[in-house]
Formats: sequence, structure tokens, C-alpha cells
Amino acid sequence: MSRLRSAMQKGKRAGVEVVESALPKRKKSKKQEETTDASSPSPYHTFPDPADVVRFRSQLLNWYNKEKRELPWRTLAITESDINIRTYGVWVSEIMLQQTQVATVKDYYNKWMKRWPTVQDLAAATLEEVNQMWAGLGYYSRGRRLHEGAQKVVSELKGQMPRTVESLLKQLPGVGRYTAAAIGSIAQGLVTGAVDGNVIRVLCRLRAIGADSTSPAVTEALWNLANMLVDPERPGDFNQAMMELGARVCTPKGPLCSQCPVQSHCHSYHKVHVKQEQKSKNLLGKLGTKTSKLPDIEDCTNSVTCPLCPSEPWNDELGVQNFPRKPSKKPPRVERTLTCVVKRPGDDGEEKFLLIQRPSKGLLAGLWEFPSLLLEVENSEKKQKGALCEEISRILGTHLTENLLQYVGEVVHIFSHIHQTYVVYSVCLEDRDTHTQTENTQWLTRSALQGAAVSTGLKKIVKLYDSVDSLTGKNTKDGKRQKDSGIMDNKKPQSSKKNKLSAANSSGRQLSLSSFFKTVKEECC
Ligand code: ADE
Repeated sequence: MSRLRSAMQKGKRAGVEVVESALPKRKKSKKQEETTDASSPSPYHTFPDPADVVRFRSQLLNWYNKEKRELPWRTLAITESDINIRTYGVWVSEIMLQQTQVATVKDYYNKWMKRWPTVQDLAAATLEEVNQMWAGLGYYSRGRRLHEGAQKVVSELKGQMPRTVESLLKQLPGVGRYTAAAIGSIAQGLVTGAVDGNVIRVLCRLRAIGADSTSPAVTEALWNLANMLVDPERPGDFNQAMMELGARVCTPKGPLCSQCPVQSHCHSYHKVHVKQEQKSKNLLGKLGTKTSKLPDIEDCTNSVTCPLCPSEPWNDELGVQNFPRKPSKKPPRVERTLTCVVKRPGDDGEEKFLLIQRPSKGLLAGLWEFPSLLLEVENSEKKQKGALCEEISRILGTHLTENLLQYVGEVVHIFSHIHQTYVVYSVCLEDRDTHTQTENTQWLTRSALQGAAVSTGLKKIVKLYDSVDSLTGKNTKDGKRQKDSGIMDNKKPQSSKKNKLSAANSSGRQLSLSSFFKTVKEECC
């Protein structure tokens, strides 16, 4: 697995946080300094009228009061009187929400808080338990950092959660500028804006900010806006209302502008309507009737030099979705990995699976997986089996021959930066082949495998393996073999292409191929 690991460790995922960064260091003329400095943007991109800010807060919070979802971390933030538990609970929720949808997080969050209701409880857990609890959420370093942070709070901070945005940012691993601001405002009522992906979109649309939303100039402008808009009486609710608006109304695609409580403040919405009016005015003008009631387009007066204005032209078809603009993404690295489901009969007849633990750093750190190898060049099935055989023999300190391996099929799994295809084989061993056991090697029963710290990719491999296995009729319903007769599954190898198809339909029964090869985008280091 070593080649695979080093290859994967090289790939770093894009940062989750909105990174605090200095202003761009490009030289500007004196005139430009006056007009395009990101720290004093054109009034078009800010809220220059304090009365507007007051109206904005009130409209947004009234909407939030009526429309907000009841979420466990929100309830905890309101009902928990202990500031350490409140801060810990919101910290857990914010880390889980970093790359995972609210609907998925809810269950994980409830289970987590039931098992580890305080930072002390989490600090006392093992990393293995944390990984197990995190299994399926993806981006596994998040759980590891929470655990690390809890141990730090207990051992270095006397169990006291940090009480300022700066110290949350500095003391807690995995907590960046946004997360620190969210925790501080939601759990501790600290008055700070919080700019996450949803808030970026809301603010860019509100103030027609169309330059690259990841640029330092836009980042600074957005934080300044958020800090200026935040309601000092209810900073946590205000920030969550902005997120909620972005998640449910001001969505990336198909925004529901007619339901937006702050539509009257939205420059993008206004722009779309002025442009539509202009179009129909031109049309009607040609026909010699009607005039528009809408005022002429308001715009940034310095749009040519402004670091917040779009450099690309307005696209009528996109409407408010002209904002925000992101630089185009790097395409994901394409990888193929050979992997083998290695099975042996257990003492009580229940089959066991061989699992290897990944290294403690990098992609899927500390999780358990089937023996795997990065496929560096496409080669024949025979060669693939040979390479896997060598790897399994090395792990078990035994000698296997490649004709024992059976091709199963392929599983695609999308990480944030890797398009991974697992080329799956299986082998069933005799008990005498399998005595070697090391710290990073274990044999797990099917039920233990279900509760183990494994990735979603592995679960998909098991699903494929089971579907193929059940088609060949070798297993009973409870997953136990009908007959334990030494080396098994030694079917005649088929050609890869044929097997890709036969994996799904060799019984003639119509099976959902999509359930085998469904792609999920979720995991990272
Ligand atoms: N995303 C990040 N933080 C959130 C929160 N507190 N509520 C809903 N969605 C969120």
C-alpha cells in the first residue's frame, strides 16, 4: 500500500476556511489607490446608509424567527447554561458542517453528543472510537482534529473552552477564521460576522460583488461587510440567518428571489429587473409605446478599476447567478486502485475479512481498508492479480498464487480532489493461510466490519462484492458460507470486460447497476 499512500499524501485538498490574507501586493497609480482600495470600496459594494443596515437586520431576523429549522446544535446553544458545554457543542456542529449537509450531520451530531456530551468525555475517548463514530461522514481529519483539540483543552486549558474569536482560532486545531467566528457568535454571543460559502454567495449577490470570490480583495470586503451588518444584539442568530438564507433561498442554482426577506437590498436582483425592463423598453420603444418605471441602472462608479466588480461581462441567462464568480476548478486527479476482499472462515464458521489500517496522516488517515495498491499503469488482469497476490502474501507472511483471485468489478468513488476507481478482486483463504496478525492488520466479522472505522468507498466495495457473491449463490442469507471447503471462490477467471457486465447480470435478474457504481462525492484527508 506504500506507493498508494505516498501518491495520495501528495494531494492536498483545498482549504475549507475562508483564509485571512493580506491585500494584494500589486502596484497601483495614485488615482487607483483612491478609487480601488479594497479596504474602502465603492459605496455600491457596501451599506453606506446606517438606516439600511437596521432595516436589513430586522427583515432578516424576522424571517429567521419564523423560518429557521430546529437543529440540535441551535437548541443546545439556546438551552445549555454551561458556556463550556455550549461552546464544545457548537464547535462539534461547526466542524461536522464544514463539508457535510445539515440533513446528514443531524444524526451524527446527536449520536456524538450522546456519547461524548462534554469536552472531557471526548478527550477521554480513543482515536479509534472517534474514527468509528465519524465513519461515513467523510473528510476524516475533522474528527481527528476535534479529538486532538479536546485533549488540548483538557490538558492545557484546564478544561475551559477559549473565550475569544482569536483564541478559538489559535487554540483549536481545524478551526479557521469562519469556524472561530461562528462558534464565538453562536455559543458565546461574541459580536463578529461569519463568512462561509453560503454567506459569500448572499453578500456577493446583495452588493453585486462579481470579482473572483476567493481573491484577497473580495475576501476582505466580505468580512468587512459581515462585521458591519451583524446584529450586535443577536450575533449568533444573525450569522445563522445569513447561512440559512444562503442554504434555502439564495441558493447556488434556482434562487427563490420572490421569497427573499432582503430582496429590496439586493443589487443583483435589482440589476436583473432593470435589465429586463430595459429589454422590454427597447422592444416597446421600437413599437413606440410605454416607458419604464424603473430608474436607470445604478452601478459601481469605478467598475473598470474596482477590485470587486466582475471582469467578465454580465450574462443575461444567469440572472442573479452572475454572482458570485469563482475561478475555474482544477479537475480532479484520476486514479485507479487495485483492491482485494480477502476472506477466511472464522472459528464459528462466520467468515472474516482482512483489514489493513491506513497511516495516521493523509487521506482517510487511520481508517481500515482492504489490501490495496495504486495502479500506476493499466495492465492485464493476470498482472493485477499477481501484484495483489504479492501484496497479500507480504501482509500475511504466506504464499498465495494469483489463480486464487477472482475479479469482482469496479467501484467509482469521488473525493474532493481525486476521481478514484477501485478495481475489485476477491479471494477466500483457508484458515491455515492466515495466522499472521500485526498492529495494523485485523480480521473482522461482517458485523464488526459494519461498525468499524471504514470509509464509504470500502462500504461500496463490500456492496458490490455482496451483490456479485449473492449472484453466484455461494453465501447463505446471513452471509455465512454454505460449505467451508478450504480455498474457495476459485472460479475460472474471466476477461475483465466480460466480468464488469457479469458482475451485475449473470443470473439474468435485472439489477440496478447504479446501486453498484453510484458515485458519491465526499471524502478527503
Ligand atoms: N452551516 C454552518 N453552520 C451552520 C449552522 N449553525 N446552522 C446551519 N447551517 C450551518
